[in-house]
Amino acid sequence: MISTKIGDLINEQIAKEQYAAHYYLSMSAWFSARDLDGIANYFRIQSKEELMHADKMFDYLNDVGGDIIIGEIPKPPHEFANAIDVFEKALAHEKIVTKSIFNILKNANEEGDFATVSFLQWFVNEQVEEEASASQLVSKIKMVSDNPSALYLFDQELAQRVFNPNPAN
Ligand code: FEO
Repeated sequence: MISTKIGDLINEQIAKEQYAAHYYLSMSAWFSARDLDGIANYFRIQSKEELMHADKMFDYLNDVGGDIIIGEIPKPPHEFANAIDVFEKALAHEKIVTKSIFNILKNANEEGDFATVSFLQWFVNEQVEEEASASQLVSKIKMVSDNPSALYLFDQELAQRVFNPNPAN
């Protein structure tokens, strides 16, 4: 049985992952409105991944007998200064999520809740990937944002991304 404290932290994390999904959907809408449908596709898939993260936590909490309490999801920003601003905000948000997951892990370690420690390992690895790819995209958008031909190709590149609902482990 999971402790109330760790259960509460996971419930909060479910809401944070759902907020991230809304935030990315808002970013997707921003690019759609500017006819950059490939970048919009990237953020749409990013949004779906966040919902999948929330579902993973939901299922875990259920498995360990915790009380699932669905929290409030604040309205995300919908105005951005420019394309670089969107990608920088996406990276900044991933860093916040990483810190939040590390905080649950720290508390689970202190409690000797090794089931949660083990469960969260997937998220630790995922955050390394998420931050690396968000950081790379910040560099790329800075290279192309002032060059319409390059931006077109970048948009085409991100149009190739497909959603994988069952990532390994
Ligand atoms: Fe669920 Fe992008 O972290």
